[in-house]
Amino acid sequence: MPKPIPIGADHAGFAMKQVLADELRQLGYQVEDVGTDSEASTDYADYAHKVAREVGSGDAERGVLLCGTGLGMSYAANRHHGVRAAVAWNEEVARLSREHNDSNVLVLPSRCLSNDEARSILHTWLDTKFEGGRHVNRIRKIEETE
Ligand code: RB5
Repeated sequence: MPKPIPIGADHAGFAMKQVLADELRQLGYQVEDVGTDSEASTDYADYAHKVAREVGSGDAERGVLLCGTGLGMSYAANRHHGVRAAVAWNEEVARLSREHNDSNVLVLPSRCLSNDEARSILHTWLDTKFEGGRHVNRIRKIEETE
């Protein structure tokens, strides 16, 4: 049984999170929505840490985060050991974040994307595999400073 995909957002990403959580369910994924549950102002790091903790511990293989720019979520998520959270603003970045960087958290900048663009980026990210090879050592070196 595939592990559930945790998804989280702050108020700026809330509406798009609902759209992407539905999309994931329609694709057959089990979704764990860690919040937020409304457009009331909230702190992005709370949700970034929830999703990143699951991915970093291995309880989830991949996670999805949304905030206005994607930046706050990525700063917080990337503090977790083993988490490679990639802000992707188009399909090419999403594809390369998987092929070259083995990203395990997709971070979407909700203020810069339409729902259709976000769905396409999500699909690309889910469907793209890590290339391995020369990229393995490069990723290992990221962990060297930890
Ligand atoms: C919220 O206003 C906004 O600062 C947040 O969603 C995000 O863009 C932070 O990085």
